[in-house]
Amino acid sequence: MKIAIASDHAGFLLKEQIKNYLDSRLIEYEDFGTHNEESTDYPRYAELVAKAIQSHGFDLGILVCGTGIGMSIAANKFHGIRAAVCSEPFSAILSRRHNNSNVLCMGSRVVGSGLAMLITEGWLNAAYEGGRHERRVGMITRMEQRNAADVLQINSTDDTQPFTKDE
Ligand code: RB5
Repeated sequence: MKIAIASDHAGFLLKEQIKNYLDSRLIEYEDFGTHNEESTDYPRYAELVAKAIQSHGFDLGILVCGTGIGMSIAANKFHGIRAAVCSEPFSAILSRRHNNSNVLCMGSRVVGSGLAMLITEGWLNAAYEGGRHERRVGMITRMEQRNAADVLQINSTDDTQPFTKDE
């Protein structure tokens, strides 16, 4: 299992703690930034992790910002990404079992580090159950495919470019 992990400035310290946890479990990951607490924009990191899953062989992603909400909104704009923002283990586990979530988002201003580790552990240990959930997750996938036609009309900008202060 290979995990893509990233945060913005608000989530930086919690991301580092999650990396320590992943190290202790010998789980392979790549850190897509940010690398300090300097202010930056969470959508850039959500995009990097989403693309890592879409086309660079990563199985799952973990994103941390202040609330987890911005990261989840941004990550869910990408085809095939099912990002769940969770502040307790029950939702995290069910998001894997029922929704086949492939990105876990957490808020460093919402959960403490101990709780964040339990959420991460529960999420990583849970598995998608398929069965009746397959029909529902399939509906979401088809919804995404139908909407893709509209997206193709829009001229898009690559927002993963380096952040500059005077922007
Ligand atoms: C940054 O101040 C904050 O807005 C961001 O980390 C996140 O919480 C957005 O959803």
